[in-house]
Amino acid sequence: MNSHAGSSRASAVAHANFALVKYWGKRDAVLNLPDVGSISITLDALWTRTRVAIDPALEHDRFELDGRTDGVGGDRVCTLLARMRELAGSAARARVSSTNNFPTGAGLASSASGFAALVTAADRAYGLGLPPERLSALARIGSGSAARSIFGGYVEMHRGMRADGSDSVAAPLAEAEDWPLEVVIAVSDRRRKSVGSTEGMQRTAATSPFYSAWVANQPADLARAREAIAARDFEALAEVSEASALAMHGLAMSARPGLLYFNAATMECLHRIRQLRAEGVAVFFTVDAGPQVKAICGPAAADAVAAALAGVPGVTEILRSGLGAGAACVDRETARPT
Ligand code: PMV
Repeated sequence: MNSHAGSSRASAVAHANFALVKYWGKRDAVLNLPDVGSISITLDALWTRTRVAIDPALEHDRFELDGRTDGVGGDRVCTLLARMRELAGSAARARVSSTNNFPTGAGLASSASGFAALVTAADRAYGLGLPPERLSALARIGSGSAARSIFGGYVEMHRGMRADGSDSVAAPLAEAEDWPLEVVIAVSDRRRKSVGSTEGMQRTAATSPFYSAWVANQPADLARAREAIAARDFEALAEVSEASALAMHGLAMSARPGLLYFNAATMECLHRIRQLRAEGVAVFFTVDAGPQVKAICGPAAADAVAAALAGVPGVTEILRSGLGAGAACVDRETARPT
């Protein structure tokens, strides 16, 4: 192997994304290939910043998350770095340090922004210069949803058919500015979830009698969401997004033992959002593998939605975000794109 030809260190920022048509289920656990496509929005206010510094003197890769070296995800970080080193023809190991500006592993898509930032920084540090679709395929190896965080705005992740996963990649559907919706997040538990999404998906596929119906239904929901986004049809997007989130959780609950990501505040927020919509407020919900509720709304409705969810018992924190950009390398000091 050659020594690496890259610029030896790089920093990148990537943003979290929330799926409106949910990903739940893998067709290949090793390459992390999804069994269903998904459609998401990328946020601007929740991000990971990652620095990759190549250090030929290191024997092993080093990974630090929010100042801790004992955090989760280290194995997957090393797997990804090994793959990128192979592409670069380099043997040099790297020091990776990552910061999230929001709680890690609590159903707020920290793995999505984390792995998207990692591959973007490592691509620059190892001098690879890969196009975004290749970075998306690499990010997917770390976490399925990370493939979507390579892009900004509205994004579709394709299930793909190939065994090597080269067509299991995300692609942009629309820019954030094309339809600037807002997101209000009702946090009711900042702790790390008890069953991670990989384990949850495997248990669901292995034990739920409804798994094949979920997979068979997905193309219709993806088509509906694609059309709603193209037409900026809020009501249609609300209908398909809530249906997909509830179907995913219903499916997860039907695993054995059933997966319960909701708490009482989650349920109360869903009722509150439905009530607001009945009163004419443009808002709908989605929920991932954790209890936090994400309310998606028009900019004019965001203050009212935030006030309503802040009043739900058990909600401890409200986060707000607009839609944001894809992953990009940044200057370490100024955080400006480079
Ligand atoms: O990317 P993963 O493996 O953490 O899975 C994400 C799963 C959900 O957040 C529940 C749904 C989704 O599409 O993001």
